[in-house]
Amino acid sequence: MNLSDSQPSGWQFSQRALKLTSSAIREILKVTERPEVISFAGGLPSPATFPAEPMREAAGRVLRDAPGAALQYSATEGYLPLREWIAARYGVRVGQVLVTTGSQQALDLLGKALIDPGSPVLVETPTYLGALQSFSLYEPSYVQVPTDGHGLLPESLTPALTQGARFLYAQPNFQNPTGRRLPIERRRALAAFAQGSPFPVIEDDPYGALNYAGEPLPTLLSMAPDHIVHLGTFSKVLAPGLRIGYIVAPEALHFKLVQAKQATDLHTPTLTQRIAFEVVKDGLLDRHIPEIRQLYSAQCDTMLDALARHMPEGVRWNRPEGGMFIWVELPAHIDSLQLLDAAIARNVAFVPGAPFFAGSAPSNTLRLSFVTVPPAKIEEGVAKLGQLLRERL
Ligand SMILES: Cc1ncc(COP(=O)(O)O)c(C=O)c1O
Repeated sequence: MNLSDSQPSGWQFSQRALKLTSSAIREILKVTERPEVISFAGGLPSPATFPAEPMREAAGRVLRDAPGAALQYSATEGYLPLREWIAARYGVRVGQVLVTTGSQQALDLLGKALIDPGSPVLVETPTYLGALQSFSLYEPSYVQVPTDGHGLLPESLTPALTQGARFLYAQPNFQNPTGRRLPIERRRALAAFAQGSPFPVIEDDPYGALNYAGEPLPTLLSMAPDHIVHLGTFSKVLAPGLRIGYIVAPEALHFKLVQAKQATDLHTPTLTQRIAFEVVKDGLLDRHIPEIRQLYSAQCDTMLDALARHMPEGVRWNRPEGGMFIWVELPAHIDSLQLLDAAIARNVAFVPGAPFFAGSAPSNTLRLSFVTVPPAKIEEGVAKLGQLLRERL
């Protein structure tokens, strides 16, 4: 059935709603839900990493010990012990911490609080598609900040480029979609830029703990605490179904975000906040994150090996030091969207790179996730992609 056929006549959508489009990734994921498809498309963490048993016990304790409070409305800012735990982990004031319904909500709240129609918003080239979707509801005018294989180029943040911007949105750690990590010198330069700039730098950091090679690098937040808005989440280190993320922001912005959140959903579910706190308070993450790293890092190696063996000459990819994604560049004349159709016909899927660009986009890039597909299937799927590309070349 055509959706427009089912719409009662005369109902008028807002201009904002009319501009909404579905995420290209979600549309693709629908096709790739068929069990025979080897999908490198999803950005989902592996369910094998979910700590189901500690979570079950924690949920039992919460509902046994404090059912009245756990099932009641609660403060918009979030569950205080959880906020205190987050504040202690980052060395910030508890008044800076707002618990959000996933960091996806943090992106929406930042859009609400900071963007007017037409305001310039600086984003990396490419950037997280979900951030573009959130911000776009508030109708910014995107400015793509130049990058190279190591991420954003701080020297490109000239007055001409950044004039009038409301914020710069960046992912220094294992960026979605490219897997790139911003080197330490560039972090210093970006933190210094934030200190001298009239707008905040937003550091979205869902993947920072998933570090497989090299030393962990300091967050921008630790380098310029009063000028960075830091977004974190339990989605990649605990479970995304909890829908718990957080924003660390200077108090003036924090206050505006609390007002915006109150109007949006009153608060993040009390029950899941208490369960999350109950599982993390005794140090579960310190034992659990190394296990996730071990699994993902082995799968990353499997995919890199498979790419090296199966990809024809002219295909290039990076070696991420963490996170969930490998970024692939095809020879210029190959369109990854067209390639996807052919790939799905052979039961293998990936995400084309173009939707991750806020402006002009090359058509020859794609993102591969290495975390959910088991190693034998990684090998099979990459072999199929390699064969397909060989035929095209
Ligand atoms: C860069 C980035 N930011 C934010 C999110 C949203 O995560 P969540 O809402 O589950 O915390 C994701 C999810 O994949 C992401 O990759």
